[in-house]
Amino acid sequence: MNEKIFISPEELKSICISSLCKNGVSEEEAKLVIDTMIEADMRGVTSHGIQNLPVYIKRIQNGGINIKAKPEVIQVSENQWLIDGKGCLGQIAAIEGVKLLAEAGKKNKVAVVGVKNTNHCGMLAYYTKRISSENCIGFMCSNANPTMAAFGGAEPVLGTNPFSVAIPYKKSHVIVDMATSSVAKGKIYEYERKGLSIPVGWALDFEGKPTSSAVDALNGVLLPFAGHKGYSIALIVEILSGVLTGSAYSKMIFSLHKDADKIQNVGFFMAIVPITPFMDIETFNKRLEVLLSIVKNSKKQEGVEEILFPGELEERLYEKSLTQGIGIDKEILDQIKSI
Ligand SMILES: NC(=O)c1ccc[n+]([C@@H]2O[C@H](COP(=O)([O-])OP(=O)(O)OC[C@H]3O[C@@H](n4cnc5c(N)ncnc54)[C@H](O)[C@@H]3O)[C@@H](O)[C@H]2O)c1
Repeated sequence: MNEKIFISPEELKSICISSLCKNGVSEEEAKLVIDTMIEADMRGVTSHGIQNLPVYIKRIQNGGINIKAKPEVIQVSENQWLIDGKGCLGQIAAIEGVKLLAEAGKKNKVAVVGVKNTNHCGMLAYYTKRISSENCIGFMCSNANPTMAAFGGAEPVLGTNPFSVAIPYKKSHVIVDMATSSVAKGKIYEYERKGLSIPVGWALDFEGKPTSSAVDALNGVLLPFAGHKGYSIALIVEILSGVLTGSAYSKMIFSLHKDADKIQNVGFFMAIVPITPFMDIETFNKRLEVLLSIVKNSKKQEGVEEILFPGELEERLYEKSLTQGIGIDKEILDQIKSI
């Protein structure tokens, strides 16, 4: 059970691309989508790696993802665009947004993209890393189908509403990328699949009581991280990604897992902020280096070996995967091969 297979990123990509293509996705789009998923596995964000491929394929087969849709890009002001995904794969709409922002970044411009009417796009860090460049900071948030309670609430009214910020640092980034729930729902699916119990505090059961059962949590409701703070950020993400873009929000959004025949209609909010209008890159890098060295060299709690900055661990795992391959659950790989 849960046997891991180590496989090279390239081999895994080719298996996964072929299963998407067999389901009618063009090779070009399949390559883009699988690249986002494999990068998640390589960074250790397995909740948003290829374990979601069977879900996407079920949605494609049932009409919940329109693989023929071409996102429509509308320029709404000099530095703002709105993308209507028309039910496309969320990754494709998000990559359209990345392209627009990266172009604006080359011209040293602050720019913002709203995306509406699309589907789940996976790990946000994939996109913020690419919006960001040596001179630019990338931002993205997305709403999701309601699975999380408001602070003090016991029914799902908000999504796990992730946000990500990528700040260039040396040849890499400082990257925050997180759900605003205590954990991403994908992680609870992982626990359920592995037959593990979850820590109390992640979710409530169907009756609104704290639970350590992954199954009960999936039938109940997730809780925001850090109580009222996570809830507040989740609400802002819902407003920016859903209300502001004209996409669906809260209970209007269809479920990734349960409504395979319906376009989810989630939205994204993406932005780029160039650094050089504030200061030259060299000064910025030096100042950031000083900050990170203060933080990383601060006194540690007992048992802690190293203080990390956000994204540091994931980027190390990524580098390791390049040489050691990706450890994938055999069960998932078999499932994908059989599609
Ligand atoms: N598309 C969607 O609808 C959707 C919804 C929810 C989550 N997600 C994705 O799920 C993924 C996982 O989210 P999560 O909330 O479970 O993330 P997480 O809890 O694993 O990590 C959150 C953040 O904390 C940082 N971090 C973790 N351990 C650290 C440490 N020891 N020191 C310093 N920083 C540390 C990570 O770098 C990351 O930036 C994200 O990629 C997110 O984009 C997507």
